Amino acid sequence: MTATNLLKKQHQEVKSLFRRVQKTEDTEARHDLRKEIINNLTVHAKIEEEIFYLDLVLEAYEEHHVVKLLLEDLSNIDAADKTFTAKMTVLGELVEHHADEEEKDMFPLAQKLGEAQLEAVGERMAARVEALTGQAAEPAGRGRRR
Ligand SMILES: [Fe+2]
Ligand SMILES: [Fe+2]
Repeated sequence: MTATNLLKKQHQEVKSLFRRVQKTEDTEARHDLRKEIINNLTVHAKIEEEIFYLDLVLEAYEEHHVVKLLLEDLSNIDAADKTFTAKMTVLGELVEHHADEEEKDMFPLAQKLGEAQLEAVGERMAARVEALTGQAAEPAGRGRRR
């Protein structure tokens, strides 16, 4: 799998989680979705920072910093709290902006590495996902594409 395919797949997954959390009023479902969002975004940010970004992309690091602050806030409030929805909305918008920017600005740069190196980087990132989650990263090319 290429690095960009792996990340795009994770972007799609987290966007779908945000759509689901906005749609449900059920407190337990919101707590579950929050947990999934926290886990996914934490690992996603980690593999991007440790492997994908190199040290060129300070703006992306700053956006990750804000995402982490919001994840921390969200961990500490009840899903029934009024601010839950507001924070989730801000986080969702930030993540969407950030993911779009990565795909638009950083992926074309990554493509310059060439397929073989992208493949190798993708393998390293997949191994890191597996180490962090205990689950294999899904191979690219399966499931939804855009
Ligand atoms: Fe990111
Ligand atoms: Fe990303």
